Amino acid sequence: MTEDWCQGGFGLYIHWPFCEAKCPYCDFNSHVSRKIDQRAWCDAYLAELERGAAETQGRVLNAVFFGGGTPSLMDPDIVADVIAAIYRLWPTANDLEITLEANPGSVEAGRFKGFHDAGVNRVSMGIQALNDADLKRLGRIHNTAEALAAFDIARSTFDRVSFDLIYGRQNQTLPAWQSELKQALSLAIDHISLYQLTIEQGTAFGDRYAIGKLRGLPDDDLGADMYAATQDICNEMGMPSYEVSNHARDGAQSRHNLIYWRYGDYLGIGPGAHGRLTQNGHRFATECFSNPQRWLDAAASGKTEKPREALSPEDQASEFLMMGLRLKEGVDLKRYSALAGTPLSQKKIIRMQDIGMISLERDQLKVTDQGFMVLNAILAELLAD
Ligand SMILES: C[S@@+](CC[C@H](N)C(=O)[O-])C[C@H]1O[C@@H](n2cnc3c(N)ncnc32)[C@H](O)[C@@H]1O
Ligand code: SF4
Repeated sequence: MTEDWCQGGFGLYIHWPFCEAKCPYCDFNSHVSRKIDQRAWCDAYLAELERGAAETQGRVLNAVFFGGGTPSLMDPDIVADVIAAIYRLWPTANDLEITLEANPGSVEAGRFKGFHDAGVNRVSMGIQALNDADLKRLGRIHNTAEALAAFDIARSTFDRVSFDLIYGRQNQTLPAWQSELKQALSLAIDHISLYQLTIEQGTAFGDRYAIGKLRGLPDDDLGADMYAATQDICNEMGMPSYEVSNHARDGAQSRHNLIYWRYGDYLGIGPGAHGRLTQNGHRFATECFSNPQRWLDAAASGKTEKPREALSPEDQASEFLMMGLRLKEGVDLKRYSALAGTPLSQKKIIRMQDIGMISLERDQLKVTDQGFMVLNAILAELLAD
C-alpha cells in the first residue's frame, strides 16, 4: 500500500531568518542582524540537506521553497550551491518548482538574475500595498514605485512571479480596496496571495492593539465584505481562489504550498522550520530550533531539531482536514477515514450541508463560498468530539 503522504507529494522548505527591518505586523521567525556570515549559513544548509536526504532516500522531490524572513537577501552564490546540492541529493520532478520569497526593494531586484541563474524559477514578492502611506504604516521600507520597478524586473527575469498584498488595513475603505485590487490584478501574471491583516500577539501591532492604539481596523462586517469583494473581483478578472488566500490562473497554483494543503510530506530546514515526515509507517512532526545562532551552531552536528513527535491517527486526520478544507478542491473522505481509522461523522456532515457550509459530491467534501467566510467555525464543528 502506498503511504498517505504520496497523495500530497514531497517538498523541501528552507528558512532564511533575516530581514532588513522588522515589520510591525509580522510574527514570522525573522530577525534583523548587522552581520551575517553567509558562507557559514550555506555550510549549515548543506549539512542539513545531507541529513534530510539520508532520511528520504529514493523520494522524488516535487518542489522547493526558500522562505523567510527575506531570502532575497541571500547571496545568489549561496542559493546556487544549495540548489546544486538538492539536484545531487534527490531525484527531482521534471518540472521541479523552486520558489524564492523576495522583498521588492532595489537591492533584491539587482539579485534576480543571479537567483534565476542559480535555478530559482518562481518568485513570490511581498508588495503588501499599492500606496505609499499604507506601506509606511505597515513599516515597509520600500515605496510603491520601488515595488513596481522590482516587480517589472522580476517579471522580465522569471516566467512565474506571484505577489502578496495585505488588506483590511487601518482606515482602508471597501472602495479603496476594490480599486487597489483591480490595479494589482491588472499587473499580476498568474498568481497572487491576498491576506487579511491579522493582529498577532507579540508583534509591535499586537502591543499597540492591546493598549487601544491601533485604530481604524475594519470591524467583522467590513472584513467579511472585503473578503467577498476580493472573491468577486478575482473571479471576474480570471484569478479565482484555489485556497483561502491564494488565487491563480489555471495550472499556476503554488506546487509547494499545495504539498502542505494536500497533506504531503516536507522537510523543513533552517531556524524554526517545521516538517512532516513519514518513516516506518509513522508520520512525524519536526521542528527546528528557532534561534538563528543556536540553529547555526547545531547544524554541523545535525542536532538542529527539537525531539520529534509521532502524530497519532487522530492528529493526522485533523491536520489533513484543517489543511485540505482550505482548498477549493476540498478533501477525499476516504482518505480521512483511512487516516483516522474511522469515518467523519455523517451527522455533522449533513448538518453542515443543510446550512450550506459544505458540499459533498461522491466522497469529496468541499467548503462552499459562503462557508469560507467562517472556515474556522466549520473546522471546529467537524473536529469536535
Ligand atoms: C514571510 S512573509 C515573506 C515575504 C517577505 N519577507 C516580505 O515581507 O516581502 C509572507 C507574507 O505573509 C504576509 N503576512 C505576514 N504577516 C502577516 C499578518 N500579520 N497579516 C497578514 N498577512 C501577513 C505578508 O503578505 C507577507 O508577504
Ligand atoms: S513581513 Fe517579510 S520583511 Fe517584514 S519582517 Fe516579516 S518576513 Fe521580514
